Amino acid sequence: MVKINSLLALAAIGTGALAHPTIKKIDRRFCSLEERSVFARDDLTSRAVIPKATTWNPPSNMVTALDQVWARTLQENPQGLQDKNWITDQLMANNGSINYCVRWNHNGKSTAAARAKTVTALQRNLQKWFDVLVGFEGFPLTKLNVKVVGYAVKNKNLLEGDTSGLDIYTTTDPDGVPECDVRCYRAAHLDGNLSQCPGGADSRYDISLWLDQSLEGKMGGFGYNWGQELGPDYFLNNIDSENIHILEHEMGHGFGLLDFYDWTPQGQTNFIMMAGSAMEVTEFDAWMLRDWYRKLKAVRGW
Ligand SMILES: *[C@@H]1O[C@H](CO)[C@@H](O)[C@H](O)[C@H]1NC(C)=O
Ligand SMILES: *[C@@H]1O[C@H](CO)[C@@H](O)[C@H](O)[C@H]1NC(C)=O
Repeated sequence: MVKINSLLALAAIGTGALAHPTIKKIDRRFCSLEERSVFARDDLTSRAVIPKATTWNPPSNMVTALDQVWARTLQENPQGLQDKNWITDQLMANNGSINYCVRWNHNGKSTAAARAKTVTALQRNLQKWFDVLVGFEGFPLTKLNVKVVGYAVKNKNLLEGDTSGLDIYTTTDPDGVPECDVRCYRAAHLDGNLSQCPGGADSRYDISLWLDQSLEGKMGGFGYNWGQELGPDYFLNNIDSENIHILEHEMGHGFGLLDFYDWTPQGQTNFIMMAGSAMEVTEFDAWMLRDWYRKLKAVRGW
């Protein structure tokens, strides 16, 4: 049994977070596993099998908890259904293709081998969420295709090896963090018009992976629909793991899912969105995502 015994300071929760012209950290809640005295152990929760679902039919012991979660979602993010940049929207806009841009805010070198593994890791971890939607309530996609299309770095010399096929950016945001060209960012062009993007449609990116030296040594990260921000050491040291659980947790925020630092939905104590209580996407996480999907579907007319 995992006990959550410390409550971490939460930054103010972002407002509706409609497409932001630059990829700011509009939601600065830090998801942390630090200061928790007990962690879920990988061997306790790995290999969870999440039953497929084609209709809204959650297990009876989750029904009350799911109602509580949705009520809380509307409270924390009243404009959530109006935000057209959830990962689900990104998937639907481009037939299951998700393009990442990596913000390498780090003085270490990026090797070609690590870049190749980064693509695989992003695909593998996002797949855990994608799979629970496949076949559910008419979700039309069956294939997830994650690519990394660009890197933003402080200095091109940090990129070792072949970088062909990648857009390399050395510009920074107002905070001095390497930034991918906003003209190519889908959320800044929700009408689909990327004519100003120098590389054209192929350079489109939907989301960012921030590997930020300020998070070195920290067991935690930031996440929202702009992407996931993690310590480079945590990400690179765990790049081959089946579940990079902090990454999966932050991806969950990209789908609109909440944190659970100060409350527990009835009867649900182990799931990845309750940081530290599970090492992978669980059936309860799956139903929270499916709830989002059916609600988005209703308002989007999918
Ligand atoms: C969407 O993706 C599927 C699976 O990759 C593919 O078979 C299909 O042709 C794509 N549809 C369009 C319109 O690109
Ligand atoms: C796309 O945007 C450009 C400039 O931002 C504009 O000139 C052009 O008319 C737009 N294209 C369409 C089809 O709306």
